This record gives sequence, C-alpha cells and structure tokens, in this order.
Amino acid sequence: MPAIFASAPGKVILVGEHAVVYGRPAIAVPVTQVRAKATLTAAPRRPPGSLRLTAPAIGLDADWRDLPAEHPLAKAITLTLQATGVSHLPACDLRITSTIPVASGLGSGAAVTVALIRALSNFLGRPLGDETISALAFEVEKIHHGTPSGIDNTVVTHAKPVYFQRDQPMELLRVPQPFRLVIGYTGIASPTALAVADVRKAWLADRNAYEAIFDAIGEIARQARQLIETGQIAALGPLLTQNHEYLRQLDVSSPELDHLVKIALSAGALGAKMSGGGRGGNMIALVTPESETSVAENLQRAGAVSAISTSIAQKSP
Ligand code: PMV
Repeated sequence: MPAIFASAPGKVILVGEHAVVYGRPAIAVPVTQVRAKATLTAAPRRPPGSLRLTAPAIGLDADWRDLPAEHPLAKAITLTLQATGVSHLPACDLRITSTIPVASGLGSGAAVTVALIRALSNFLGRPLGDETISALAFEVEKIHHGTPSGIDNTVVTHAKPVYFQRDQPMELLRVPQPFRLVIGYTGIASPTALAVADVRKAWLADRNAYEAIFDAIGEIARQARQLIETGQIAALGPLLTQNHEYLRQLDVSSPELDHLVKIALSAGALGAKMSGGGRGGNMIALVTPESETSVAENLQRAGAVSAISTSIAQKSP
C-alpha cells in the first residue's frame, strides 16, 4: 500500500483576535507558504493496533498508546478512530513534519492536527469531511489553547479566508481584489493559552472596560469584511493599525511587536498589527507591490527573524 499523506496550511488572523474568544467576529486567512504534513505508511509486520508516531521537530518517536491521553497528537488519533468508527487499527507509521514555527500565531497546532486527522481517516478508508475534521481539531485546540474560539481549526481546515464568529456557521470571505501581507516573526515563542488566560483575568476584573474594547475590535472586523469584499484594500490598512492599538490596550502586544509594527508603517505599509495570541509570535503588514520588498527588508533589519510575503486571494471552492 503506498504512503498516504495530507497537509494543512498555516494561518494568520487578519483582525479580531482575542475579541473573537468573547463572541465578536474575526477574519483569518491561510498562509500557504508554510504547511504541516502527516504521512502514513502501513507496517504489516507489526501487530494490529500499533501506531508508531514520529515528529522529528519535537523529538517524538513513540507508540501512540504510550502517550498520555491528553497529548494533542494522541487525542487527535483517538478522536479520529471514534469518528471513523474503526476499532481495529492496522499497524502503521505516522510521521508529522511541519514548516510552521511553533507557538508563533501561525496556527501550527491546528495545522498538525488537521493534517493528521485527514491523513489517518484516509488511511482507514473512511475519509472525514471538512466540518467533522474542523470539529475534531477544535477538541484538540482546547488542549493547546484552554478556551479557543475555533477560528484556527476553521481556517486551517478550509484553507480559505474566513469570517468567523463563535457559535455561528462559518462564512467564507469573498476576495475580489487579492492583496499581499508581509508576516514578520519576532522569533519569540509565546503560547496563546497564556495570553488568552491573562485577558480573561483582566476581563473578570473589569468587564465593562474589556467589553468596550472587544466591541470596538468586533466593529473593525465587520468593517474590514466590507472593505475586502468590495475590493477597497487601501482603506483596510488603517483598520489593521487601529486594531493593533486595541490589542495594546488588552496588554497582549510586546515591545518587539510594537517596534516591528512601527518599522513596517514607516517603510510604507498601508497598515500593520500584531497577529494571533501576541506577546511574541508574528505581526502582519498590509503592503502594496511597491512597498513589499522595502517592508520585508526593514522588518528583518529591525530584528524580525523572518519576513514571509503571502498573497491573500479567494480560492475557488
Ligand atoms: O493561535 P493564535 O496565536 O493565532 O491565536 C488565536 C487567536 C486568539 O483569538 C488569541 C485565540 C482564539 O482561540 O481565538
């Protein structure tokens, strides 16, 4: 039997992170330059039930039954077996590789989970649909994030720009006018769960103030959708920068992120903001074809470990 593999892209949140956890809308887009990949090969010489899991990037090489039940990869396997209704797992090797930096706001956890579920369900001959894959990945996200909104698993599963609001049906975004982002990585790994937990603490201490900021961010997401869907990309820039200010007020930015945002703006970006959980990880800059190179170069000169350029467009369904 030939090897079976599946992959899933990274993602960035364009607008609305953190507020999305509190029911406001947000927009996320796939980043196809980075991907997680899961490869499955049958291992007929080993007894049924044995699945050898290797993930070289995190030094993992183990039989999945030896992992704690709440290990994200073990949990993804258990959920896939349950969802496919397969009780006898044929012996196999499952290898996970990824070019998505971990804990950087690029959705690495969700992409690994989605690639794994997709590859394993295909291997078992019971391919799962996107809705189910996203729902199972959401369960695994709870281990990574504590109280995830569901935006990461949604955008990574569908690999298309999404307008997302908790407990609402996912909506794909129309992107009549493609646009470009430069993603600057601070090189600082920052677990999203910590930032999300800190925002929750602060919200519990002063609900009125935080609800007002969440409302303002939600309004930005609504306006951003309108602008993107009508092709008014230049007007999107100031909204991103305004969103960054609100994220600073939520205390999830960092001196490094603020610095890179400033650098991007002075290098000609239309707008810039941190993206994702914050405190480290990535920032994004909306660029024009004229400013793209200068923004990317200046970000790297100012300390960004990498500056990835990516195009946001609507893929045909
Ligand atoms: O995975 P990250 O770091 O891009 O962050 C996800 C976005 C948050 O709004 C901070 C959390 C969530 O679950 O929506």
